[in-house]
Amino acid sequence: MNISDTMRELGIDKDNFRTLGLLPLVFVAWADGAVQRAEGSLIRRVAREKGWLLGSGEALLDGWLEREPDAAYVEKGLVLLKELAAERHRFGHAFTAQTLSNLLVLCKDVAEAAGGLWGLAESVSPEEEQALAVIAEALGIGDAQTWRRIVAEIEASPAPSAPGPKGNVLVGELRAIAKDPLGLLMRCLNDHGDVVRIRMPGMEWFLVSHPDHVKHVLVDESRNYVRGRSYERFRLVVDDSIVTTDGEQWRPLRRIAQPAFHRQSVARMTGMMVRCTTEMVGRWADRLEASQTFDVAAEMHQLTLRIIGLALFSVDLESEATRELGEAVGIALEYTAGSTNPFRLPSSVPTPANRRFARAMKVFETFVFDTLAQRRESGDHPPDLMSMLLEAVDPETGESLSHVQIRNEMLTYLIAGHETSATTLTWLFYELSRHPEVRRRLDGELERVLGGDAPTFESLDELAYMDQVIQETMRLYPAAYMLTREVVSEDRIGGFTIPAKAWVLLSSYVTHRRPDVWENPEGFDPERFTPEAVAQRAPCAYYPFFAGSHKCIGQALAMMEMKAIIAVVQQRCRLDLAPGFVPEVEAQVTLRARNGLLMRPIWHGR
Ligand code: HEM
Repeated sequence: MNISDTMRELGIDKDNFRTLGLLPLVFVAWADGAVQRAEGSLIRRVAREKGWLLGSGEALLDGWLEREPDAAYVEKGLVLLKELAAERHRFGHAFTAQTLSNLLVLCKDVAEAAGGLWGLAESVSPEEEQALAVIAEALGIGDAQTWRRIVAEIEASPAPSAPGPKGNVLVGELRAIAKDPLGLLMRCLNDHGDVVRIRMPGMEWFLVSHPDHVKHVLVDESRNYVRGRSYERFRLVVDDSIVTTDGEQWRPLRRIAQPAFHRQSVARMTGMMVRCTTEMVGRWADRLEASQTFDVAAEMHQLTLRIIGLALFSVDLESEATRELGEAVGIALEYTAGSTNPFRLPSSVPTPANRRFARAMKVFETFVFDTLAQRRESGDHPPDLMSMLLEAVDPETGESLSHVQIRNEMLTYLIAGHETSATTLTWLFYELSRHPEVRRRLDGELERVLGGDAPTFESLDELAYMDQVIQETMRLYPAAYMLTREVVSEDRIGGFTIPAKAWVLLSSYVTHRRPDVWENPEGFDPERFTPEAVAQRAPCAYYPFFAGSHKCIGQALAMMEMKAIIAVVQQRCRLDLAPGFVPEVEAQVTLRARNGLLMRPIWHGR
């Protein structure tokens, strides 16, 4: 019988392959007869945390834990594990190193949770030795010590380089990434797997998309993966700020700004968000003839820019009095949107676009500096982020921020805090127009919770289904679809060498479309985000706001803002796609709609 047949008999397939690593632990638990409840829940808990229960893995594990110990089944399982161990060279280095060390890690975690029963501490207790021996025996690699030695050797031996597209000798994949970044990223996953090397002129990029690997970079080993030089282009726009720095330079900026994003602060902004949206929808109603179409993408950009201007420095960027500032901000944001273009000349070269950007920055800087001076002089500090930064004194250093630092932060928040929400909303209204059943359910929830009243912070909190619809939109269209980190010291991911100074690409767009994590990944289905479904998934299977210490500071604000906007729009009208219009995704800094999104409002009650 070959490996595939044994796997089929044990109910193991591509979908739940990772669960296989739990088999030795289940055997150990079976060794005493039936699995004790505590043992079972321990194995399940640790496995869930590790993300080993993807696909039908949970059902498979449940089946194992619930069944009576079955000598024939154990026998088959042992044969399979032995065959896999014997054939490890066929599966490649990555498979062996990862599977074996995953088993060790798992044993260690189970042991910690169980108070040391299966630990791999220096002094191994007889029980531990016995448990390890059973597992080692199952793998056909001798006793526990030998097993440990093999793993140590595997970890110490040079790891191979990750596979990847061949690329042009001179420019690597530069052209492909400039032309169709999403196409290239998905090809990398489909053709080359979990860790993919992408050649670029003079450097290497590594795309990692497996949830465990993403967690490794963003959470477990985040100190080794910094923004560093990979944020150089963004630094040309905002200089050193919360979104371009790391470590000690970044920490005080985060600490100072954090209170502005606490629940109470976000709650205070809800009224303003509802008012701005109500005015926008009112304008549509006044301006648009029946069945006239308009660009929802542009409207969402204008609205979220207005909201962020009010939240950051209490200025209405739509008013006539601030027209010059509004235009300058628009130019700066447009310039940033092109900052991922690898062919663009550095901002020091006086091209027309660079000169226009420099002029816009001057206008913005003058506004920030004048406003700061006025606030200092008058002592008038409206409750916004600018006041918070102006008054802030770092409790550890006793220092406050310079005006230049505040300018950098203001520009950063403008950039980070408006286009992301605007593009998410654009795609959400598009998906709602394609899924009437989702829209009907959403409207039902709005009617039940708000009953026609204007939304408040508290009532928005109750819109659980709307939350799911937003989450699913951000799965398919994660605004920050690809970000980078620079590698500090050489590391290994998935058994492959990741050299120092290389860049790691983290693409939520790719992870969110992995067929081993998401069933029917291209389908739009908010049911993926019920609390039960979320609890089943590995921690970094979904990360539109990133994870770890740099996780988006504006997440709660963005969610509340998007909910307020959707609620007000949906209460007044239904947005239908303009007949014949097909929007196109364009990957710039965010996932935009290339030619906008033409829709027409169908007003309720008219
Ligand atoms: C749908 C909306 C949003 C999405 C998808 C989003 C996504 C992200 C992501 C992926 C990061 C990680 C960047 C990195 O580490 O390199 C991030 C960081 C950040 N976001 Fe957001 N964001 C959104 C809305 C907002 C809003 C509304 C604000 C502020 C008003 C904001 C401010 C920031 C800031 C300041 C950081 C840097 C945090 C740090 O490094 O400490 N974001 N965001």
